[in-house]
Amino acid sequence: MSSTPAVYEVSRRTSCGWRGGIDDGVFHGGRRVWELEAVAGERWGGHAVATSSGTMALECAVRALGIGAGDEVIVPALTFVSTAFAVAAVGAVPVFVDFDPHTRTIDPAAAAAVTPRTRGVIPVHMHGLMADMTAVTALAGHHGLAVIEDCAQAAGATDAGRPAGSVGDVGCYSMWVGKNLGGLADGGLLLARDPALVRRCCASSPTWAVTASATPTTCAAAGGGWGRSTPPSSATSSGRPHT
Ligand SMILES: Cc1ncc(COP(=O)(O)O)c(C=O)c1O
Repeated sequence: MSSTPAVYEVSRRTSCGWRGGIDDGVFHGGRRVWELEAVAGERWGGHAVATSSGTMALECAVRALGIGAGDEVIVPALTFVSTAFAVAAVGAVPVFVDFDPHTRTIDPAAAAAVTPRTRGVIPVHMHGLMADMTAVTALAGHHGLAVIEDCAQAAGATDAGRPAGSVGDVGCYSMWVGKNLGGLADGGLLLARDPALVRRCCASSPTWAVTASATPTTCAAAGGGWGRSTPPSSATSSGRPHT
């Protein structure tokens, strides 16, 4: 297959990255995470914040968007359980809607599930295939809903040239070891264009949910966060939060 050399190359680079992390002895934040955030933010055209998992990226996004008890969030019925967990974790109600049998992503007919309590929608990009984001953003725009993209299964996916995670208010990636873009264990990334929203994601996170040494850097770049303003270039790679 023509893709085999590319697969080997990704595998080789991934192993080198893991090896480097093991050699550094830094398993939580640090230089490599800052580099990842910088590259991801540039590629997606916004700010990227490393998180402890894709699940926590989703939960931080839900909290940062002000969704809480009694609110409803539309979630496709075909997804990993974390998509709904993130909604339930803040006391909101995940309202399941059907998926398109051809794309296995959220059915644009989800509009029928909107009620006066609906605050958001989480399209899930399944198996590398992006949901119809034109339809989702039209739905969200019409009803004033927040859009959180669940990109856990969609590293590298694009829709009309738009990378997964760059269309909605927040994009949430999983970097669990078995994912296409996997770390050594659990990990995640959240992406947003609006610096104020990035700050809220950082601020609304349980302290262990956002990678400690990564967050201050990115949140400072977005103008807030842990109160840190030192640029990444002068940071150490100790993996410790900087204050
Ligand atoms: C669609 C989807 N959403 C969310 C998650 C949660 O990501 P994590 O395992 O990094 O918490 C996964 C992981 O399998 C997933 O497939």
